[in-house]
This record gives sequence, C-alpha cells and structure tokens, in this order.
Amino acid sequence: MSRAGSPVLVVDGGYAGWRAQALRALAAGWPPEAVTWAERGSAACTGTAQLMLLDAGPAPMAGDDLPSAERQQAVGAAPMVRVSKALAALLQQAARYRSPQRWAFLYRVLWRWCQGDRAVASPADEDGARLHAMAKSVRRAHHDMIAYVRFHRRSSGGSPEYLAWYEPEHDVLADAADHFARRMGGSSWWIGTPQGAALWDGHTLQVSATPAGAISDAVPGIDVQALRAGAAADDIEPLWLAYYRSIFNPARLNEAALEQHMPVRFWKGLPEGRLIPAMIADARNGARRVAQAGAVGTMRGKPVAVNPEDAQPLRPAPSSLDQCRRCELWRHATQAVPGHGPQTARIMLVGEQPGDQEDLAGRAFVGPAGKVLDEAMRRAGVPPDSVYVTNAVKHFKWIARGKRRLHKTPAQREVQACAHWLEEERARVRPAVIVTLGATALGAILGATASLRDYLNAPARLGDAWLVATWHPSYALRVDDAGKREDIVSAIAQAIAKGRELATAAATAPSPPSPSPAETQ
Ligand code: URA
Repeated sequence: MSRAGSPVLVVDGGYAGWRAQALRALAAGWPPEAVTWAERGSAACTGTAQLMLLDAGPAPMAGDDLPSAERQQAVGAAPMVRVSKALAALLQQAARYRSPQRWAFLYRVLWRWCQGDRAVASPADEDGARLHAMAKSVRRAHHDMIAYVRFHRRSSGGSPEYLAWYEPEHDVLADAADHFARRMGGSSWWIGTPQGAALWDGHTLQVSATPAGAISDAVPGIDVQALRAGAAADDIEPLWLAYYRSIFNPARLNEAALEQHMPVRFWKGLPEGRLIPAMIADARNGARRVAQAGAVGTMRGKPVAVNPEDAQPLRPAPSSLDQCRRCELWRHATQAVPGHGPQTARIMLVGEQPGDQEDLAGRAFVGPAGKVLDEAMRRAGVPPDSVYVTNAVKHFKWIARGKRRLHKTPAQREVQACAHWLEEERARVRPAVIVTLGATALGAILGATASLRDYLNAPARLGDAWLVATWHPSYALRVDDAGKREDIVSAIAQAIAKGRELATAAATAPSPPSPSPAETQ
C-alpha cells in the first residue's frame, strides 16, 4: 500500500526500469519517504488507487563519466546523476537481490548520495553495509548458478539440445545465461527457473521473465515437471555418477568443508546430489567402527585369554599393497605408496612414510622432502633413477589442522605391521646398500628402535648388505638456521656418497670391503 497521496513508482524491467524512475523522482525532488515503489505485476502495483506511472523512457546514470551535451538533450528532463563506478556496480548487483523492499532501499541510497552523503557507499554505514551485503549475496547466487546448473541432453533430439532446471536465490538468470551462451558455443540450450527462462539457439539469447512453465508451452517437448523432479536423466548421467562415486574417498571426507563448498540446498538439483547422503553415511559408519575399536582397546577390565584364531576366522593375507589392512593407517590415507626404482638397484633409500603430496600422487618423495633428497643425491653424484626409493610405512599417517593434513610419526606397531612390505622389497631388489633416512627407517630396517646418532657415520653390515644411516631430509626443512640446514643436507649427501662407494666396492669385491664395520643383524 502506498502512503496516502504519495506517488507510486512502478519498476518495469529490473535495474534499468528502476534507474529510469529513480532519476525522474530525483529530478522531481521527491525524498525517499515521499514515494512508494512497486514492481509491475505486483499486488502493490495493481491494487493502488494513487498509481502514478512516471514516463520510463531512457535515463542516464553514469559511473565516473560526465554526460555529453547531446545525450543530455536527448533524454530531456532527466538529470544526469554522477555516482562512482563502485557505487554504480553495487547498485546494479543489489538490484538483482530478490526482496520487495529493494527498489525503495536503492532509491534511499541514491538519494543520500545525491545529497552529498558519500558515507552511504561505505560498508561502515548502515545502508552501505546492507547494500554491500545484498551485492555480495547476488554475486554468490550468480556463482552458484554457474556452478550448479546441470544440463541434460534431450533424448528425443531436436533443438534446444540441452535442458536444465535451476532455482536461483536472486535474479541472476540473465547474467548466468550470458555466461553459458559464451561458454557453450553453438550448442542450443534452455534453462528454466520459477521466475523465467533463458533460451540460446546457438546464436541468439532470449531471456524471458515469464515463468518457465508458461514458456515451456511455447518450446515443444520440454517437460518442466520432469526436469524439476530430476527425472530427465540422459545417457551420460550414469557415467557421470559412476565417476563421481569413484572419486569419493571416504577416508578424506570432511563434511563441514563439503557442505561449505556445495551447500545442502543445491543437492536436490544435482544428479550427484542424490548419491551424497548415502556416501556420507557409509563413510561415517566406517569411521565410527574405528573409533569404537580404539575405545574398546583402552577399556579397563580383566583380560580374558582368547586364542586369536578362535576369536576370528583366518583371513587370507593381503596379496597386494593396495589391499593391505595390517594396521589402521589405510583408513585415512588416499592410497598405499609403494617404493619405486630399478629392480636391480644397488642402493635402496628408505624414508619414514609418505607425506601429504606423496599420498595424493602415489609416489614416494615427490614433495618438499623429496626436493631435499634430490639435492643430496645430486651432490653425491648418484642419479635419482639409479636408486630404489621406498618408505618404512606405506600409508600416510596424519592429523588434521584446519584444512591441512599434518604428518604424524607412525607408531612402532604400524612400523612393524608394514615390515612385511619392506622385507618383500628388500628380498626382491637385493640392494648392496640400504641408506636409512631418519630414526623410523633405521628402526624399521633393524627391526628394533635404535639411536640414530649411534649409527651416523658408522656403516654397518646387514646380512649381505650395508646399512648407512643418516638424517631424514625433512629435518633440513624444520630447522630455521641456514647453516644448520646446509650441514644436514651435506650430511645426507655424504651418506649417499658413502653408499655409492660401498655399492661399487661390493660389486667388485667378493667379500665385505674394509674398513671393518660394526656387525649388525
Ligand atoms: N617423507 C618420507 O619419509 N617419505 C616420503 O615419501 C616423503 C616424505
């Protein structure tokens, strides 16, 4: 309802319509509280006795540009209002914010600006803050629409070839349609929304404010109900769903991050959205089982001796690293990371466990510690592709710190569980020299915890092979002092060079070379 006697300004055509009316209201000197705003077709518009339709002809409002004299003449009585480019952009964005008060609010902002009140464009001002929040919400809705519209190819063929249904939060259909028209080239498509529809025939874009149901009557063969209900799957959809299922890693599920990036309200419009709740439930159940097992293990009580074979049926031993369930680390890792290098390598380098990047890449020492190791090998004159590189533990153990996965040292039982794979690699490659990087690798090779310092610069016999122990490359990444870092890299390089020397000697000498080393089993 308008205030008694106050003019009702009818907005027709979104921002452009509002702008035309607002400029004329300014020219008439009407303050915001003296006018009522309505949208064409709204109840406020149709049911009002005092309706006043101002001439909605073209009216300028520049960013930073001054009007040319001819242009001002052409628009007659409409004044030229100068607003900053930033404010012009905010007004245009906020005009797409779906709210019955938007036009009155935008006029208040414009009025204040024209009164010289520049604070109105600042987020520190109450109106300014609301304007910025509206514009932000519209930008978000535009982004969401581009991200979450899913086209279905029409099985019946014909034009438009692709159909989509989407329910945007604000009036962003025209902008998003413009984006798709630029991106989808000559393919024809139709996007329906409850407020209007967009049709691209490969050359021309038509955006209509007529509700999609009505429009679809004019476009033969579009079943809006089926699209809305997500029942318009095409023959590509099963492939997409299979792919989506396969890239979902329950071990890495972070529900809060998932819902932040893909809010739940969009799931119903996405084919893959129907899979998500079940995939989350499966992942949760798995995680709950692990948590429970841990809790049960720490409960006090009288131990009851049970023969493990009676308690659990024998399961076949895992035949590949991928299937390994010898400890719990597989649950939270992306994949097991095997060693790599020539099967005839004379030197084997053993690290601790894959890091974040190795876990994702499936290859040992590709992250920052790998760079240090490469540098040490370069200094030692040992080509990286001549050595076999592996880790004591094959799954990444980590703890979450915000969005980061931080390395956590594996427990002794995890090192022991993984010894199976390290032994298998040693038996297969039969290196002449094993260079252990850090204390975990040393302990894994010795089969017992040992003091790294006791083994530094002291190669030891290990059956047929030599053991050369040195620092872990990530130690160099943790120290702040550049001199200390250099010492560590150079110590690793020296150990690798020593390994090369021992491997060369072993290849030429029938018996263990001197100097006589400490004997280690
Ligand atoms: N640290 C390791 O011990 N191994 C890797 O593969 C990477 C970092």
